[in-house]
Amino acid sequence: MKKPWAGRFKEKTEKIVETFTSSISFDRRLWKYDIEGSIAHAKMLGKQKIISKKDMELILKGLNEIREELESGKFKLSNELEDIHMNIEHALIKKIGHSGGKLHTARSRNDQVALDIRLFLRDEIEEILRLIRDFQRILVALAEKHIDTIMPGYTHLQRAQPVILSHHMLAYFEMLERDKRRFRECLKGVNILPLGSAALSGTTLPIDRRYTARLLGFPEISRNSMDAVSDRDFVIEFLSASGMIMVHLSRLAEELILWSSAEFGFIDLPDAYSTGSSIMPQKKNPDVLELIRGKTGRVFGHLIAMLTILKGLPLTYNRDMQEDKTPVFDTVDTMKSCLSMLIKMMPKIKFNKEAMERAVEKGFLTATDLAEYLVRKGIPFRKAHEVTGKIVRYCIENDKTLTDLNINELKRFSGLIKKDVFSCLSVKESVNRKNSFGGTAREQVIKAIKQIKMTEIVNEK
Ligand code: ARG
Repeated sequence: MKKPWAGRFKEKTEKIVETFTSSISFDRRLWKYDIEGSIAHAKMLGKQKIISKKDMELILKGLNEIREELESGKFKLSNELEDIHMNIEHALIKKIGHSGGKLHTARSRNDQVALDIRLFLRDEIEEILRLIRDFQRILVALAEKHIDTIMPGYTHLQRAQPVILSHHMLAYFEMLERDKRRFRECLKGVNILPLGSAALSGTTLPIDRRYTARLLGFPEISRNSMDAVSDRDFVIEFLSASGMIMVHLSRLAEELILWSSAEFGFIDLPDAYSTGSSIMPQKKNPDVLELIRGKTGRVFGHLIAMLTILKGLPLTYNRDMQEDKTPVFDTVDTMKSCLSMLIKMMPKIKFNKEAMERAVEKGFLTATDLAEYLVRKGIPFRKAHEVTGKIVRYCIENDKTLTDLNINELKRFSGLIKKDVFSCLSVKESVNRKNSFGGTAREQVIKAIKQIKMTEIVNEK
């Protein structure tokens, strides 16, 4: 097959070079966007009379046919034609002849490929935002359901203070809110039309970039042709936002893995979302969650790959940039599959309220409440901390919990302790007294849920 650049070349390209440089095996995924971009470009060329109306119509007809062939799987992609852009252009020329050769007027693959990735990411980010919202709805539903489930809150993975499970779930809701903000921000950077920058410096032909932008729904056009063809910042921003959400999903996965262990026993994972062991008959493993945690590493890797690819590139386009595709595609697929798994799995997890509440009883989780009780009696917090510490030590030495102590035992540590101390030693009281804004008190959490339900989460599609 003759290469578009054959005019200048004496020798044919080596087969191994063709294989090495070809990107069709992965950029075929961009076909829909490549055609969409070409249709808009052809319409603009026609409107500007750079090509005749007849040529334009032939091109549009040809592209529509090619789209159908690609959709139905009839289209034959060839390695020799290097990438999706040349595969489609070649097929167009084969279909409509001479007129097909006019599509690439005032365009280069450099601005074409930049456009394709932007169109692809624009769609995918919208889809990812939808998935995040679906997942958030699940977290809110869980929060509503578990408003009366008390569990230990941890610091350093040591039992620290009692919280309610709803509060814990809504912590992840907040992380996902930030993820949505980052993806929306990223969308702004993606939503800029690079087409019309041509190879690197623009074109001598009278194109109308604003018109193309309008056809493709871009609110902005790039302002510098050299930047436009060499910019992949938006890819890095996307990969970085993706890395961040994977951190969140991975942390959740890790918590669920811990909670499903016999040591915690806080949750039972659905059988249908667990796997067994090939040797130990008793095992039920949290492989889905482990894979979410594991796949996070891949996404981080893609971010580093992309940063590294760009760091030494002189302006403008360099072929290195072809290496942006696989990290982007794999990140999109990985993230979407992890979100989809959690969306399906989370509602099927059984939370063991009793086990969580048993765990709260041990570990002196209301010690801070006791210290704050003493503060209310006029003792400086540092002193109150010390007194409470001594009470805890006494309990450890005598194998008691704080609620096992009677008033006389307590009075030995401070004369200021009265009978009213017992209400602050109960975990339920402790939770409900954390009524500062954003605290774990039932009242606060119910308010938070109401607030969430009033705002975007329900209204947004
Ligand atoms: N396949 C190329 C890529 O993905 C398309 C652009 C090729 N441009 C070029 N000047 N060779 O980056």
